[in-house]
Amino acid sequence: MTFDTLCVHGQDHKYPEASRSITVPIYQTAAFSHLELGHNEHGFDYTRISNPTRQRLEETVTALEGAAQTLAVSSGMAAISAAFELFAPGDQVICSADLYGGTTLLFRQVEEKNGIHLRFVDTTDLEAVRQAVEPNTKAIYVESPSNPMMNVTDIRGCAAIAKAAGALLIVDNTFLSPYLQNPIALGADLVIHSGTKFLAGHNDTISGFVCCKDDEVAERLRVIVKCTGAALSPFDCFLTLRGIKTLPVRMERQQQTAMAIAKWLTQQPKVKKVYYTGLPEHPGYALNASQARGAGAMLSFDMGSQEQAIHVLKHLKIATFAESLGGPETLVTHPVMQTHRDVDPKELASLGITGAMLRMSVGLEGAEDLIEDLRQAMEDA
Ligand SMILES: Cc1ncc(COP(=O)(O)O)c(C=O)c1O
Repeated sequence: MTFDTLCVHGQDHKYPEASRSITVPIYQTAAFSHLELGHNEHGFDYTRISNPTRQRLEETVTALEGAAQTLAVSSGMAAISAAFELFAPGDQVICSADLYGGTTLLFRQVEEKNGIHLRFVDTTDLEAVRQAVEPNTKAIYVESPSNPMMNVTDIRGCAAIAKAAGALLIVDNTFLSPYLQNPIALGADLVIHSGTKFLAGHNDTISGFVCCKDDEVAERLRVIVKCTGAALSPFDCFLTLRGIKTLPVRMERQQQTAMAIAKWLTQQPKVKKVYYTGLPEHPGYALNASQARGAGAMLSFDMGSQEQAIHVLKHLKIATFAESLGGPETLVTHPVMQTHRDVDPKELASLGITGAMLRMSVGLEGAEDLIEDLRQAMEDA
């Protein structure tokens, strides 16, 4: 079955409801009745543990990522936290130095407190990853492309290093979505999604996923999600399922517009640098093309100074100054003051993330309107 059909119908799920409802109903219930003791044919007890709307969503995302099983949880952060519950005090996790700021905060404030040793390395350099491996290394954690620098990590290369070390490779695939990249096919063991972003795709819900390559890890994660109460609510499952139906068409159009904007930005004298993996001059261009089916709809650019960047933010009329990504509305973020505000400024500087930088999630508005909006916002900057 094609990816597009899976997005619309899920795997083998054409109208399984008794009512033949076209859409998956929202099973807004806390509990399910039992016929008699020991007989629970439908397999549902209590919504924190499992729910038919959630099950349908999990099966759909499993099919899209080519996973064995998927867990749908309350946010992308809940997904990362659940995955880290697989580790014990004293374990080491090697991770990309350049990650979503919330992930870095979780690692520094929670996981390190829990006794997990985080080793931040430049994962675009496979030799640096190899050198960081220790006998207690239990996982390698990467984002590709990364947030907000759009650095591309060799997922196959990291998978080989993880395998040799007996460790898991965990890939946050939020920026490209399963439409453009399938890390499990490249050797990853776990795939993380902030479902809030391209999967749900409408800037109207928060959700997260952990997709697992094998059933054994998935079953351990089911116990963790059940015990910590992190599962996604039926209504948010419904919204995410609804969003997924249009994932391919949204991604195609958003990516096309992102390319047009990236090219236009490279021609603007006030723009010092453009970070978009679809541009041949991007250092990760060839690698991204070898492991993904496109460059996606996320880009960053450098306005030369923080003042210029703030000027642009202030004068945008269509693109909105806001923090999320992946929806129909184009959003522009100032990483230093928003997504990465909790990261040590010295660390940010060492990664090249400066106050002059803006990150753009390209939405579904007309490309000409967005370019005209940027042009007028850059006037007098
Ligand atoms: C790459 C990436 N991973 C994870 C997250 C966290 O997702 P959520 O906000 O759904 O918890 C984000 C949020 O922006 C993100 O950009």
